[in-house]
Amino acid sequence: MKRDEFGLIRERLGGISRRGFLKYCSLMAASMGLSPAMGSKIAEAITNPKRPPVIWLSYQACTGCTETLLRATHPTLEHLILDLISLDYHETLSTPAGKMAEEMRDKTVRENKGKFIAVVDGSIPVKDGGVYLKIAGKTAVEITKEILPHAQAAIAIGSCASWGGVPSSGPNPTGATPLGEFLKANSINTPVINIPGCPPNPYNFLSTVLYVLTLKRLPELDKESRPKFAYSRLIHENCERRPHFDAGRFANSFGDEGHRMGYCLYKLGCKGPETFNNCSTLLFGDTGAGTWPVGTGHPCFGCSEKGVGFTVPLHSPARLKFFTPPDTYPQIAEPRGKGVTVGAAALAAGIAGAAIGAAAATAKKLGKKDNSKEEPKS
Ligand code: SF4
Ligand code: SF4
Ligand code: F3S
Repeated sequence: MKRDEFGLIRERLGGISRRGFLKYCSLMAASMGLSPAMGSKIAEAITNPKRPPVIWLSYQACTGCTETLLRATHPTLEHLILDLISLDYHETLSTPAGKMAEEMRDKTVRENKGKFIAVVDGSIPVKDGGVYLKIAGKTAVEITKEILPHAQAAIAIGSCASWGGVPSSGPNPTGATPLGEFLKANSINTPVINIPGCPPNPYNFLSTVLYVLTLKRLPELDKESRPKFAYSRLIHENCERRPHFDAGRFANSFGDEGHRMGYCLYKLGCKGPETFNNCSTLLFGDTGAGTWPVGTGHPCFGCSEKGVGFTVPLHSPARLKFFTPPDTYPQIAEPRGKGVTVGAAALAAGIAGAAIGAAAATAKKLGKKDNSKEEPKS
């Protein structure tokens, strides 16, 4: 990347230095499981003036997935993502409105068959001929069948698009269906990457887009079509409260002594032991330590895990799937945990392994069945 090419990026990213930008790109590479040397390739992809067209379709959604993208602050994520791609259609963010917006969308599809990325947030209501969601006179069912076969790849952003999320909660009156399932049922072969979460971490979305643009292929996915670089670890593995779990120190009710001391939230229904995501290492909102659900004192409710969030009761105990040690151990003397930084997480990536003995000991402490020999999900 030449210095003059960087000038524009600096302007857009609110004055970030060239060195800071390259460091950020190396960090992104490390967090995706790539060599830090790939950072310069990521920087090239970001500064490439040829931007891939993206059509963003919002269905049964609360707009939280778009909001989360716009609320990241450092570096100015929305600038990075909006400059990186050519966002040709987005009901909330597009400048054109009404008929003009629909025409723009159709033109992009016509001129970029097999070359654009479709992003979908929200689930697709299929019951009663899809009448529960219409945009410009067409149902989401019709729009998806028209557009998705022509996309190079699709990203299902958020749990609604990935699993069905809130709209699909029982009794699912509108037949809310996730994108991947809908495409399969309609024999549409466009590959789908799921980025679940409610909302998902915007960096997982950005990293996925950067990966596709830089390496011209999809990232390695698990059997639920999630990028392994973001969803291969249980939240429980890297949780700042994990030393308390291992030591048998739990909050038993909200506001009790254990809760005030920052003890483990397992007994309040924390689903960290059965939820695959990187919230405990990436955190949210770029505002420092503790800024994620468990960090603020609320149990993880498994918002990103199929069959957990929006499915099982909020405060029911999590299933203990299998046990691995955390990547980093915060000081056990800390009365309240401190979040792990992105950098620390990137550097620590790669340490895995099952502590089966610890599973048996902990299961005994909790008075629960030891399920540690169950197959991992991915
Ligand atoms: Fe809203 Fe959550 Fe659905 Fe995203 S996943 S649209 S934040 S309800
Ligand atoms: Fe953290 Fe929840 Fe695991 Fe406790 S049960 S260590 S709060 S993820
Ligand atoms: Fe969701 Fe749990 Fe992370 S509730 S945001 S998966 S900590």
